[in-house]
Amino acid sequence: MNILILGSGGREHALAWKLAQSPKAGQIYIAPGNAGTALVGINVPVSPTDFEAIKMFIIEKEIEMVIVGPETPLVNGIRDFFLKDKVLHDIAIIGPGSEGAQLEGSKDFAKSFMKRYNIPTASYETFTAETLQQGEYFLESLRPPYVLKADGLAAGKGVLIIDDLAEAKAELKNMLLNAKFGEASRKVVIEEFLKGIELSVFVLTDGKNYVLLPEAKDYKRIGAGDTGLNTGGMGSISPVPFANTAFMDKVEERIIRPTIAGLQEEKIDYQGFIFFGLINVGDNPYVIEYNCRMGDPEAESVIPRIKSDLLEIFENLANGHLGDTKLEIDERYAASVMLVSGGYPENYQKGKIIKGINNLNKCIVFYAGVSNNVDNDEIKTSGGRVMAITSYGSTMDTALRNAYDNISQVSFDGKYYRDDLGFDLKQ
Ligand code: AMP
Ligand code: GLY
Repeated sequence: MNILILGSGGREHALAWKLAQSPKAGQIYIAPGNAGTALVGINVPVSPTDFEAIKMFIIEKEIEMVIVGPETPLVNGIRDFFLKDKVLHDIAIIGPGSEGAQLEGSKDFAKSFMKRYNIPTASYETFTAETLQQGEYFLESLRPPYVLKADGLAAGKGVLIIDDLAEAKAELKNMLLNAKFGEASRKVVIEEFLKGIELSVFVLTDGKNYVLLPEAKDYKRIGAGDTGLNTGGMGSISPVPFANTAFMDKVEERIIRPTIAGLQEEKIDYQGFIFFGLINVGDNPYVIEYNCRMGDPEAESVIPRIKSDLLEIFENLANGHLGDTKLEIDERYAASVMLVSGGYPENYQKGKIIKGINNLNKCIVFYAGVSNNVDNDEIKTSGGRVMAITSYGSTMDTALRNAYDNISQVSFDGKYYRDDLGFDLKQ
């Protein structure tokens, strides 16, 4: 079966790497891909949001399955486009329609969905320019820190957590009246601050049944001890030690099952990943956010722990037979550490030559911002997040040590990484 993966990050490299191991896989194409996906498939210069170009490509290469990596094509309705099209109608597509993708595409939609189904989440209210003053009163009724969220997609930057009331009011105004996050902040969700430790839980669902994937902890901040600016993710660890059976039973019972039942109740056709961004407050899980796709950099530790044939699972999902699926999981820990360009997530330089990749062992390298100079086989940095190095270990510490040992072998100008992953998970 020929497959097309949309996206260009470490997540897409991990997906392509895994699918390439399936005996059922034919040619794997990645649009647009990166230097890593080119090692396991063929990169295609097509944008994940150019649906007409994707259609032409699917016809030309006889693609039978499309896996959508990032959220934007899903929120923009790629699944709906396929279903309405005579030619694409029967192509398997892994990812929900635009309505289901609203779980990620609109914070207000997600919050009211959770409220309807009694899914534990921070209490909240939503405001617009017309209700700015009520928003200010609402802020006054809360205790700091104040959590302000742009309703729409804002490339992971739309959440502000502010200690000072006057500053929170000013930012609310900025979001609603001055379009701080453009169209995304036409509505703003203000919610109660929850204190706890976060984790990411994933399922694959055909809309009725679901398969629980391994959970992971990701590290968003640039600095050691979770300090400094937010990034696209500095690494991830799977499994999460505190996510024991008792905790995960609560997650399934209070969050996952009611979410899928709610989607069914509202007749929302949902086939794909649901990513539950959770927070553990006193051993009780709460939803911080939903995403309609796999996480990045969680994919780089979660996917290597899946022993089953992921392509077969995707096939079952697309056929609505996910109920028959059993997932085999590698019991070991997987730790994935992201190497980034110095300066990231602010300004950084590109085009630095990466050395030492051939010295690595006991690890898997997933490329993110890496380009290939085909003439002399050189690889160079081409983005902020450069590559994830994933290692296994029978304990979290061994997995991390294996990853860090390998990292010391890789060099490029300005190389930076977090050397304290797992600091918050030690028991
Ligand atoms: P989101 O984009 O909704 O995942 O929010 C980004 C980050 O802000 C989350 O990963 C949390 O670290 C933090 N955050 C969001 N909402 C809350 C909340 N209600 N309480 C505490 N932290 C939050
Ligand atoms: N790691 C968080 C995300 O993928 O949004």
